[in-house]
Amino acid sequence: MKLTAQAKKIRKPTTDISPLFYTRWSPRAMTGESLTREELLPLFEAARWAPSSYNNQPWRFIIATAEQKEKFMDFLGDFNKQWCKNAAALVVVCSANNFTHNGQPAITHSFDTGAAWMSVALEGARRNLVVHGMQGFEYDKVKQTLQIPNNYTIEAMFAIGKFAKKSILPKEMREKEVPSSRKEVNEFVNWDGKFEWQ
Ligand SMILES: Cc1cc2nc3c(=O)[nH]c(=O)nc-3n(C[C@H](O)[C@H](O)[C@H](O)COP(=O)(O)O)c2cc1C
Repeated sequence: MKLTAQAKKIRKPTTDISPLFYTRWSPRAMTGESLTREELLPLFEAARWAPSSYNNQPWRFIIATAEQKEKFMDFLGDFNKQWCKNAAALVVVCSANNFTHNGQPAITHSFDTGAAWMSVALEGARRNLVVHGMQGFEYDKVKQTLQIPNNYTIEAMFAIGKFAKKSILPKEMREKEVPSSRKEVNEFVNWDGKFEWQ
């Protein structure tokens, strides 16, 4: 069964929205097969069209496939290492802290980059590819090894791979391999300009 079909069985939006939004999820089971640059390119083409403040497009993706992937595996925490060994690519997401046109701080650089990463994830799901975000890695190691300049922020990493059956995962991960639920809309939206902070 396709990645999106699994989510469709479980996730039920409360009103009509594009299935694009609720059929994306973050599996960990990947086949271990590689993906060509041609297969990966559409995911980043999707990111290209994300909105950003002043159209600054602050997102940067550092993609490791094949032997480079081993170097990136070394950044990951033990839990993520277990399932990422079957990824076709590991990606470091960075963002430019300042505007290109005037060098001033771009306050929304992380916000903008979040939109771009989401586009990668949505296009990946549409193509039955796992795109799974990660914060479980050593940010300092990434900064030093990849020599990320100080005017860039390391935001996150993500894995990309061909979707596989959950039977290939270790038992404890198999149980978690299911599309997750969400808060109700009223828990994060207030229509009257007031909000009950918790
Ligand atoms: C920025 C970010 C960091 C994450 N870090 C990890 C991680 O280190 N390891 C992991 O297994 N999942 C990680 N996740 C996956 C989240 O747990 C997952 O997106 C969340 O539970 C919602 O589930 P869904 O993506 O399947 O809808 C991360 C997701 C994001 C967006």
